[in-house]
Amino acid sequence: MLDIAKSSIPGPNGEPWDVLARFNEDTYGYLDELFAVYGTLFSLPLGNVGGLFLPHINDNGNWVFLTRPHQIKVMYESPDDVISGAEANKIFFGTDEASVAYIEGKAHRKRRQQLHPFGGSRDYAELVLAELARQVETWPKGTPFRLFEKLQIMTSAIITEVVCGNMAEEDREFIRTTLLHTENAKNTGEEVLAADAGIRSLVARRIPDYRVWSAPESPDTLSLLLRLAEEGDVELTDEVIRDEVFSLLYTGFSTTANTLAWTFVRLLRDERVLGSVRKEIADNIGDGTITRDSVNTLPYLDAVLKEVLRLHPVTALNGVRLLKQDIELDGYQVPAGSILVHCAYLLQRSSEVFDAATEFQPERFLTCSVDRYRWGAFGGGSRTCLGRGFSMNEMKLVVTKLLTDHELRAVGVGVPKAQLQGFFMAPIDGALVEMA
Ligand code: HEM
Repeated sequence: MLDIAKSSIPGPNGEPWDVLARFNEDTYGYLDELFAVYGTLFSLPLGNVGGLFLPHINDNGNWVFLTRPHQIKVMYESPDDVISGAEANKIFFGTDEASVAYIEGKAHRKRRQQLHPFGGSRDYAELVLAELARQVETWPKGTPFRLFEKLQIMTSAIITEVVCGNMAEEDREFIRTTLLHTENAKNTGEEVLAADAGIRSLVARRIPDYRVWSAPESPDTLSLLLRLAEEGDVELTDEVIRDEVFSLLYTGFSTTANTLAWTFVRLLRDERVLGSVRKEIADNIGDGTITRDSVNTLPYLDAVLKEVLRLHPVTALNGVRLLKQDIELDGYQVPAGSILVHCAYLLQRSSEVFDAATEFQPERFLTCSVDRYRWGAFGGGSRTCLGRGFSMNEMKLVVTKLLTDHELRAVGVGVPKAQLQGFFMAPIDGALVEMA
């Protein structure tokens, strides 16, 4: 006899606004609770995640949290007629635009190629290290400060140079400072929207200047996209280029700052791991030049970053896909209209998935390759983070340089709790440190 799928996935009932308030207030605490009560597959009525100008959710607005590798495999391997990453991203980010995260199929594959890595083949190491040096100059010495906020300022400046580096200094200053308002728990929804609109509007105003100035010596992403449009890509309208630029700026700054902040939270509290990273840097780079390639030959540092991302993925909603058809999963009927969520937080901290799952043990990634369904800090399938290689390299450059040239120590005991900062999860104390 065939098994009949159970009708609904377990999970709490409630109005989306109430559930969302709880989710936002203590995201990981709430998820731990839900996991303990409902198990490895549960649903949350998050509706349209509170967005103000969101596409309408036709169906149930239920977010189905996946916490086991076989579930993640279904999510990332289902064909486009079963799941849609573009539609889910539109709901998640509250937009109806046509930049890379919000298109699919052939157009999506083509755009990813055009943007990889952000439209050219530049080596960004010099740019990253120069910006780091400029920023460190401004950090206080001998007094505690919130490293996370300094790292946000730095990554904002770096991604602004990468994407809009050929704009006038005044414009770049506007972008890098305004960007900070898009991912800051202190800002209201209206302030976030105003910052978003301000950057898009500036980029739109500058596009005509860029167009007449056709071949800059070091093309930034904006000029590369305009060149592709001039060469005949009709999909790359001015509006799409403006949105693509904004999307790279936004996705490129705080994700990296959050992960770097967690990296220092962990490293500065773990003498053994910190000692091993320092030794690897001394043995392999020593007094030599820190370059894109030299930091890429540091396997222990690579393992440290993977371990940080295992324990501290940037978001509880690490990849989202809208179901276009009913599917069956673990004996449950999951209806079309549900949004599947890759919950890397619960997955990657599970003792069924990783040995000593709550311990910080980078060595685990030295001896085995990363299984994409067990570890998915950059999402997965055809939508794996476009900035993965760039951000890993940026983080390696920053960690190597800071550990080589500066003395930092953690302030406060124990690993701070994670708190929602906007879309992403940051250390609640802002990664408090002191620099000698
Ligand atoms: C530590 C740093 C970062 C982390 C942890 C991270 C994480 C993620 C995750 C989880 C996704 C969702 C993937 C999915 O839906 O399967 C994503 C998508 C994306 N990320 Fe990142 N990201 C980081 C840095 C960056 C940077 C530096 C950029 C570019 C400047 C970037 C650009 C994007 C874009 C454009 C997408 C959408 C890709 C698509 O839909 O095809 N990310 N990222």
